[in-house]
Amino acid sequence: MNLKGKKAFIAGIGDDQGYGWAIAKELANAGAQILIGTWTPVVKIFTQSWSLGKFDESRKLANGSLMEYLKVYPLDAVFDKPEDVPPDIRENKRYQESSSYTVSEVASQVEKEFGKIDILVHALANGPEVKKPLLETSRNGYLAALSASSYSFISLLQHFGPQINEGGSALSLTYIASERAVPGYGGGMSSAKAALESDTRMLAWEAGRKWNLRVNTISAGPLRSRAARAIGFIDLMIAYSKANAPLVKDLESEEIGKAALFLLSPAASAITGVTLYVDNGLHAMGIGMDSPALRDLPS
Ligand SMILES: NC(=O)c1ccc[n+]([C@@H]2O[C@H](COP(=O)([O-])OP(=O)(O)OC[C@H]3O[C@@H](n4cnc5c(N)ncnc54)[C@H](O)[C@@H]3O)[C@@H](O)[C@H]2O)c1
Repeated sequence: MNLKGKKAFIAGIGDDQGYGWAIAKELANAGAQILIGTWTPVVKIFTQSWSLGKFDESRKLANGSLMEYLKVYPLDAVFDKPEDVPPDIRENKRYQESSSYTVSEVASQVEKEFGKIDILVHALANGPEVKKPLLETSRNGYLAALSASSYSFISLLQHFGPQINEGGSALSLTYIASERAVPGYGGGMSSAKAALESDTRMLAWEAGRKWNLRVNTISAGPLRSRAARAIGFIDLMIAYSKANAPLVKDLESEEIGKAALFLLSPAASAITGVTLYVDNGLHAMGIGMDSPALRDLPS
């Protein structure tokens, strides 16, 4: 797959452990130039770690060179324009060193500095009450999850859409808790993923007709990313997947990266509005095969 001459903006890279990183790497392997949107409070630690060589091992591309980026933009995807940023955030120590981190400002800076792009990736989510059951989630917590994890994708596409070359493509990442109950994935995060998937279909229609862009989402299996570790039971989810998915193997972030590369490349030119499962097949199962209640089930 050759993406030479294409530019990709990937929102949601804060270290080398998550799906955003894995997707950036596959796009870079295919020759795309990489622009990164990093959550404002973690920009400093991300760029410092990069400069200090902490990511060098994971930056290695297939041809032996190291992945490079054109620029890292501070981004807080819960704000669309400067007026939306409340004073306590603006004056927060971790925000003070950055400016122009709202979605509209980042989109216009990217256009000014690099012109049109071809690929937009949304690899971010946040649910402040994710550890609370839905039944105990506050209105604010629920709306914050939707704002950071679902509306942020609409906003990114709204602002970047006009500056994505025709035939370009956008992608987000979702999780099976959108359509099946996954106890522990609380705080409205399951609702946020359901919205993200529904929006993928609607935005595919609208952005297809308006800009000739494709919009898809990958429903990824469990990965030990920083965000997933914060939820607190990711190791159990990984073990559950191994015990119950059709494919008995670790799920590598690279596998999501490669599926994303396909969806974002011209090879997927007729695919839009799709939720693609990249989860070792776990989504296909209706029962947990390791349940003690199934001990006597003939195999
Ligand atoms: N890890 C999993 O098991 C898993 C499974 C399915 C889907 N996903 C999805 O993959 C995507 C990437 O997450 P990940 O698990 O790779 O973790 P990650 O920690 O690598 O990525 C999440 C990123 O979102 C950023 N972020 C949070 N709030 C933000 C905001 N307001 N503005 C900008 N950036 C913000 C964080 O700084 C972080 O870099 C998310 O949408 C997540 O829900 C993850």
